[in-house]
Amino acid sequence: MQSDSSPTDVSPDPVLVHDWHPAFYSKDLPAGTARPLDLLGKKLVIWRDDNKVHAWRDLCLHRGTQLSLGKVSRCRLVCPYHGWEYDHEGRCVKIPAHPEQTPPEKARVETYRVEEAGGLIWVSLGYPPAGPPVLPEFEDSSFRLVPCGPYEFNASAPRVVENFLDVAHLAFVHNGLLGDSEHPELPDYQVQTDESGISATDISIFQPDPDGTGKGSRVTYTYRVTRPFHTYLEKNTAPDRFVLFLGVCPHNKYRSSSFMIIGMNYGHDIPLKQLQDFQDRIVAQDKPIVESQRPELLPLDLAEELHLRSDRTAMAYRKWLRALGLQFGTA
Ligand code: FES
Ligand code: FE
Repeated sequence: MQSDSSPTDVSPDPVLVHDWHPAFYSKDLPAGTARPLDLLGKKLVIWRDDNKVHAWRDLCLHRGTQLSLGKVSRCRLVCPYHGWEYDHEGRCVKIPAHPEQTPPEKARVETYRVEEAGGLIWVSLGYPPAGPPVLPEFEDSSFRLVPCGPYEFNASAPRVVENFLDVAHLAFVHNGLLGDSEHPELPDYQVQTDESGISATDISIFQPDPDGTGKGSRVTYTYRVTRPFHTYLEKNTAPDRFVLFLGVCPHNKYRSSSFMIIGMNYGHDIPLKQLQDFQDRIVAQDKPIVESQRPELLPLDLAEELHLRSDRTAMAYRKWLRALGLQFGTA
């Protein structure tokens, strides 16, 4: 049988295989629909019957057609080529050309773990030790959640994550929005790595209008990296709290999609579209920069690029990925 992806593209990393990856926002996969997803170099079909979401290998056992081209009918996924019907466990239960024949036991599609949490559909190719990464704010009714994206990048997932952790670019790439090119200085800040990931605290950034008064001032950011491709930041402006979660889906080594979810316990009257448009604008500024970076795969050897004190979160991230043995999307 022909391989559904290049062998070099399929992730060899247990750390990623046994992790959760965001596939779609739940709202973008209504009941009775099927969509294709490239995950870590594997072709999957994600589909929803009346009750549940399923994640399968996107390949009919008869002639290798993509099942995501088919349709969902009566809680079954139906191949578009000769109409084989697969039940919710991935078993072929009907071969229309031979209705009297019991489908062979081998006519069974490979299935994967899938869960819904925080408004997202999460997929794993392995067996993650815990559930999908959901921030406490996502389950706190005083927080308003604003799903943004997904944003497609022609870039590796670790490059996209590192861009999110990079504070020195705010004054240039997001000048006038998240930073100010007249105030690019970054005082030292703390970074710690332990078994739960990376924390970068007390990052002071000058922003042109952090509180909507039209006056520039310094705000403090905290970053946490909890998994190779899951991270979030918190803007410390008590009593207001603003968190921004980033989960990056690695389609293959060179292509990924980022899902960003804002959680805020204020501004409940700001129109949703206004918040999403702002995030779209920010990501549109990042995209050409990140897609231009070479090498495309993130170099984990710190000797490969030049690093400054203000890059210490990125340095900790590269070191941590190396310690985890991560290879996919890195060099
Ligand atoms: Fe799917 Fe024939 S290829 S039914
Ligand atoms: Fe940015």
